Amino acid sequence: MGAYTMRSLRLLPFLMLVGGGPALAQSPTYGVGRTPSAEEIRAWDISISPTGEELPPGRGTVTEGARVYRLRCARCHGADGTEGRAPRLVKRERGPDVHPWSLGRILPIRSPYATTVWDYINRGMPLNREGTLTADEVYALTALLLYWNDVIAEDEVLDAQSLPMVEMPNRDAWAPLPDWKPGMPRLRGYPY
Ligand code: HEC
Repeated sequence: MGAYTMRSLRLLPFLMLVGGGPALAQSPTYGVGRTPSAEEIRAWDISISPTGEELPPGRGTVTEGARVYRLRCARCHGADGTEGRAPRLVKRERGPDVHPWSLGRILPIRSPYATTVWDYINRGMPLNREGTLTADEVYALTALLLYWNDVIAEDEVLDAQSLPMVEMPNRDAWAPLPDWKPGMPRLRGYPY
């Protein structure tokens, strides 16, 4: 009896596989849930594309960004974005001849689109307090980080119209990283 049970148990995964396939394929309806409304999808889908058409209204300047940065960012990224427990936010080298790949992973200079910088800060920062920045604050912080990286001038105002127009230095040199496949080392073949 013991041996028989053991053998059946060992067969169980196989039987589940064979029996479960067709059953799942029929995809039973449980009568729960509903199709989300267009309004709900808009609320969940907060990612911002390069054209910036999803950007919310608002505006921000470098000066306002510096104020918010001191309060919300400096304790991790350092007072000027170059030292701290979190990654540096400002490029090391300056000048027009610096190849974008030598700029490291610094998002506000390496990203091909300025909208990505806005999107990253809006969704991911401050770490552990994500989602607490207003749209104006995110515009202002984006302005500050782009100014610190010599992408925009100190007096530029960023809003839903001007942000997508910002020309990132890496726009044309940018190339997607090679697709990672299981078993591949995480770092080989990457340009930095
Ligand atoms: C509690 C610490 C903490 C605070 C506060 C914080 N950050 Fe960060 N930040 C991090 C860490 C850690 C990373 C790296 C995240 C990763 O590697 O996934 C990061 C990454 C970033 C990056 C991307 C860096 C890169 O080049 O990849 C940006 C931009 C950034 N933070 C901006 C901000 C801004 C703006 C604020 C203020 C609103 C802020 N952070 C506040 C910890 C923090």
